[in-house]
Amino acid sequence: MILLEEVSKVYPHREEPALKGVSLQVAPGEFVYLTGPSGAGKTTLLRLLYGAELPSKGRVVVGGTDLGRLAPRHLPLLRRRLGLVFQDFRLMPRRSVFENVALSLEVAGTDRRIVERRVEEVLEQVKLSRLAKSPADTLSGGEQQRVALARALAPGPDLILADEPTGNLDPENALAMMRLLVGDYVGGATVLVATHDPTLLSLVRGGRVVHLERGRLEEAS
Ligand SMILES: Nc1ncnc2c1ncn2[C@@H]1O[C@H](COP(=O)(O)OP(=O)(O)OP(=O)(O)O)[C@@H](O)[C@H]1O
Ligand SMILES: [Mg+2]
Repeated sequence: MILLEEVSKVYPHREEPALKGVSLQVAPGEFVYLTGPSGAGKTTLLRLLYGAELPSKGRVVVGGTDLGRLAPRHLPLLRRRLGLVFQDFRLMPRRSVFENVALSLEVAGTDRRIVERRVEEVLEQVKLSRLAKSPADTLSGGEQQRVALARALAPGPDLILADEPTGNLDPENALAMMRLLVGDYVGGATVLVATHDPTLLSLVRGGRVVHLERGRLEEAS
């Protein structure tokens, strides 16, 4: 599903590379935690995977697509197969929960009736059906984070990339969020979760852990 070969990333006006010779292979359906201290390169690695950055060296292949060879106009097509979850939820504040989730399907041109059925289904999964009509900005942080997850899950992505998805949540909601990501809800998708919070790893057992340290990748055993 994911293949990184000797990937390095140097940002403009930076001497120290953000990633140095990173190689990583992730099989379809695998769950991977990406850990490491602040500044280690976690966000950079995720951004490479959804084509927001290009590697300075090496190869990035996602679902058979070599991102280094992908024309920018084909990027939206790739993104549609990905579910992205960020620390700041990036919801449309005035729109309802339902509309926020529906948008991810509407951009793909899905039929209205199918959109409605699917949105109801994912809202049920994240236990937000009763708030479907509420504007997103009236929800608590934990609820908003679940909307963000529902939005990412709705199109049935092959790959879910989550960057500090629990960063703004209290411990209880953080645990609930992680349980949703490792649970059946993701429908067999490959999941990569970046977090600098090691307590999360002990809360949710199972899953592979890869650790970044100043741009270098180490596999925990
Ligand atoms: N757009 C950018 N331009 C220049 N340098 C950047 C840019 N984005 C990140 N960096 C640098 O690259 C390094 C890795 O940053 P990155 O955001 O990937 O770390 P991170 O592991 O996600 O950290 P955190 O846990 O704080 O989110 C840092 O030294 C950072 O300052
Ligand atoms: Mg980060």
